[in-house]
Amino acid sequence: MSSVVAAWKRLPWWVEPMTIVGVLTIFGLYSFVVILLYEGRYEEYVSPFFSFTAVMDLPGWVPGFITAPMLLLWIPLGFRATCYYYRKAYYRSFFWDPPACGAGAQEKEPRKPENYRGERALFVLNNVHRYFFYASIIVVAWLWYEAFRTFFPPEGGFQIAVGSIIWLVNIVLVSAYTFSCHSFRHLIGGNMNCYSCAKGGSARRKLYNGVSRLNAKHPQWAWYSLFSLLATDIYFRLIMSGVITDFKIIGG
Ligand code: FES
Repeated sequence: MSSVVAAWKRLPWWVEPMTIVGVLTIFGLYSFVVILLYEGRYEEYVSPFFSFTAVMDLPGWVPGFITAPMLLLWIPLGFRATCYYYRKAYYRSFFWDPPACGAGAQEKEPRKPENYRGERALFVLNNVHRYFFYASIIVVAWLWYEAFRTFFPPEGGFQIAVGSIIWLVNIVLVSAYTFSCHSFRHLIGGNMNCYSCAKGGSARRKLYNGVSRLNAKHPQWAWYSLFSLLATDIYFRLIMSGVITDFKIIGG
């Protein structure tokens, strides 16, 4: 793994921003196509892009181009779009502002440093990140419930299938991303000046230290969870269309 990281770092500086543009564009297009055109539930599995909206029927007066998962997807999309890490990633890769820190990259910066004015205009909306975090907790709780349900097929009994493991790994990674959020770290201890002065301060300090360790790898969780969402939905589509069979390790 360390040799892969070392090899990645030796690549030209523009490889990273261009890769980010490619991956985020593919992920965005894929998720919109899926929620616009496809179903979200098959036997014991629910696509992570649909969650509880997979069984939701919209009233007849709602225009046809609006689908149930759209009522949900704004939460994870808003959470990621306002995430401190993703902001850095897309300012660099989509806006080239600046594209990287590497030698040679700063000359590509489209404006002079003295003209930098921070996140203004529409970008002040990034400050609502903590509210997206609160809403995401509901989504994460539901995804845990759906991962748990994959161990119990509709015909009854208990199973461990390849799909159950994929759903479980996905929600673990999505949870790691969500709870390594800077807003959560601030909420549970980053807003305190003195732990020993506060009631329950030592427990809070321990929790804060744990979240800080998780937080140190926030960029990695951001990418791992993005890929796991994609992989889980692709697996879902493959078993739903009969291209592959969900292999049962136990039960079934
Ligand atoms: Fe990335 Fe909150 S900072 S999810």
